[in-house]
Amino acid sequence: MTPPDSNQPLLTDVTTRWDDKFCDRCQMMSSSVIREILKFTQMPDVISFAGGLPAPELFPVREFEEASRHVLRTKGQEALQYSPTEGFLPLKEALADKMRKYGVPADPDNILLTNGSQQALDLIGRVFIDRGDVIITGKPTYLGALQAFKVYRPKIIGIPVDDQGMQVETLEVVLRRENPKFIYVLPNFHNPMGVTLNLERRIKLVRLAAEYGIPIIEDDPYGELRFEGEDISPIIVLHKENVLYLSTFSKILAPGIRLGWVVAPSNIIGRLVQAKQATDLHTSTFIQMITHDIMQRGILAAHSKIIRKVYGERRHIMTSAMQEHFPPGVTWTKPEGGLFMWAVTPETVDTMKLLQSAVEKKVAFVPGSVFYPDEDGQNTMRLNFSNANPEMIKEGIKRLGRVLEDQIA
Ligand SMILES: Cc1ncc(COP(=O)(O)O)c(C=O)c1O
Repeated sequence: MTPPDSNQPLLTDVTTRWDDKFCDRCQMMSSSVIREILKFTQMPDVISFAGGLPAPELFPVREFEEASRHVLRTKGQEALQYSPTEGFLPLKEALADKMRKYGVPADPDNILLTNGSQQALDLIGRVFIDRGDVIITGKPTYLGALQAFKVYRPKIIGIPVDDQGMQVETLEVVLRRENPKFIYVLPNFHNPMGVTLNLERRIKLVRLAAEYGIPIIEDDPYGELRFEGEDISPIIVLHKENVLYLSTFSKILAPGIRLGWVVAPSNIIGRLVQAKQATDLHTSTFIQMITHDIMQRGILAAHSKIIRKVYGERRHIMTSAMQEHFPPGVTWTKPEGGLFMWAVTPETVDTMKLLQSAVEKKVAFVPGSVFYPDEDGQNTMRLNFSNANPEMIKEGIKRLGRVLEDQIA
């Protein structure tokens, strides 16, 4: 075929007004503030506590290389072919097994593989939320969930979260008054606060949700990253039929593979599968097969053990540095797992403004207000402790301590 002649005159010089063409839903789409912040914190001399990034030096790169080779050598044709929307069966079986060991009753039919948990959140929005529906989240909550759900135009009601997780005690009034579509909960090492929902509240949540017939979405990317204390029963174990459980390989293995999973009653999986078909047909066959290979070789289990240890040390280093360098009046959570800590400053400090001074001093965090479904949390911040190495954590917290001191003074 001959390439078009670039000197040929255009058929018309009228250009389309694209801005008039976008659908109403687009007004509800926004770039994540974190992604925007991440852009300028990627400068090499900035110490960033902003992203939710795992420690890259611990990624099992060589093991991935071996698993890729093995999959291509032994099942190359299958790995490069289309595959079922539900997911690669041996991986679903391995996940069902893993979930059962974690206490979650699951069969392969109850599992759907997704392109990260983020896709599961979008699929949940697609199949459950009509415009104007009420949904319940924590206050604060995971920003990516707010982004995913908002596209479908719900009314989001935030239930306050304290150091024992969502304040379930305040939920009943809202359930009675608003008849929400679902309750979205982060049970373990909450993003952004790092806190864990205690067992008493889990039980109360399950009872209330059942009484009012409201499903629970349990988003649990961090449950396996406990480095202190005792595991608490996942919410789905307390009421299998009423809970849709999400998890992901992002934090326990590597986020770049974009692989997550949903555990739910099989009729719900069916609906999510229909929504996923329209989105991307299925999750990468090749990646699912590599991940299955990694699990079979015991690499996932060994890797989570390593990162739990390292993240526990880093959390400890961060809290010690905060004690040394943060001025009086600033408090913080002490997570027993996961990736994040949450600090609260005196009310006179606006952390969105503080971030500008912090970046000038070459340290970054995420202002907490972005995690609120409403306008709140101006004097809060999220700090990630998994990504920077110990020296950087000490230096970064020292810099942030100075910035805080200047502001508070
Ligand atoms: C609570 C929560 N849910 C879901 C996700 C999305 O994870 P994934 O990388 O699997 O899409 C994250 C990522 O940070 C998260 O913190």
